[in-house]
Amino acid sequence: MGMRLLVLGGSGFVGRAVVGEAQARGYQVTVFNRGRRAMPAGVVALVGDRLTGEGLAALGAGTWDAVVDTWSGDPAAVRSAAAVLKGRAGHYTYVSSRSVYAEGAAAPLTEQSPVVDPDTDFVYAAHKRGGEIAAEQEFDGAVLLARAGLILGPHEDVGRLPWWLNRLRRGGPALAPGPRELPLQYIDARDLAVFLLDAAGRGLGGAYNVVSEAGHTTMGELLETANAVTGGRAELRWTAAQVILEAGIEPWTQLPIWLPPGPDHDFMHRGDVAKVLAAGLRARPVGETVADTWAWLQELGGTPPHRPDRPPVGLDPVKEAAVLGSAPGEY
Ligand SMILES: NC(=O)c1ccc[n+]([C@@H]2O[C@H](COP(=O)([O-])OP(=O)(O)OC[C@H]3O[C@@H](n4cnc5c(N)ncnc54)[C@H](OP(=O)(O)O)[C@@H]3O)[C@@H](O)[C@H]2O)c1
Repeated sequence: MGMRLLVLGGSGFVGRAVVGEAQARGYQVTVFNRGRRAMPAGVVALVGDRLTGEGLAALGAGTWDAVVDTWSGDPAAVRSAAAVLKGRAGHYTYVSSRSVYAEGAAAPLTEQSPVVDPDTDFVYAAHKRGGEIAAEQEFDGAVLLARAGLILGPHEDVGRLPWWLNRLRRGGPALAPGPRELPLQYIDARDLAVFLLDAAGRGLGGAYNVVSEAGHTTMGELLETANAVTGGRAELRWTAAQVILEAGIEPWTQLPIWLPPGPDHDFMHRGDVAKVLAAGLRARPVGETVADTWAWLQELGGTPPHRPDRPPVGLDPVKEAAVLGSAPGEY
């Protein structure tokens, strides 16, 4: 018989990929959330709000082989969920982040690199580290800390790859942040899901950096693939990092995914993944992630969902044109 899986969340980006992979394996899937979004088909849906006192009542009965927790807010919610499920679930995965590593830690970041102090650090990193600690302290079985990095693929609701796809579809001269051979590191949510379920099945515990190898793709391959998939309408104008920074353009948010060579790029795109590769992580080719994300965007009429608790991403066309010396409306 397949695994009985509980996904805390399950109707967002990563949770939905985990549910999809579990169902493809024939697992019995229960999701727990507030019921505010479209629910994946074929799941047992439990409803509750993790931020309220009685919110976990629906989790009061039942047993599961494994739990995947996608929470990214106040760690108190992880603590109460892990406590309430203690003794009734065999394995707990907390979907964490490589943001838990302390800024300034030497590259490449491994699972042994220093982490932030959850009481003092900036809020997202502190929440993620606090969630890790809460799960490990409260749960009584193996706890996997899946330190994902940049997550891409269909259903992405931060809007990073969707922004690039829509921008290149618009066509014309496009600011392509260089260098073209800049190595990138990310994980397709569906590959993350495969790893998490395999790891739960094997009872793996502890921290894993769950991203592809550094250089799984490059900025050049990503944008050229995205341009081809969207009709080859854009003319990529490779621009030096220095020029972009001097124009006051913010890496990562205004030019999603991109970070100039240096410490921030080392942090996000050059992590050590020897441990997760040895444990079996496989990353699909970038072409598949790009094509599938574009196909999903098309189904939505081009407008991706956007998480209200994350700032919008993307570059103003006027600013882009100013850097390129072109007119924003000339194409
Ligand atoms: N995106 C990235 O590049 C990236 C990188 C590294 C790590 N991560 C981590 O990956 C995870 C993302 O997972 P995700 O996208 O599936 O999840 P998510 O967007 O963080 O969470 C959404 C899910 O949680 C439920 N939810 C939200 N508030 C709730 C509440 N108060 N009580 C109960 N349920 C609630 C939502 O359903 P309702 O709204 O219906 O309640 C939905 O099912 C996060 O933990 C994030 O930190 C992301």
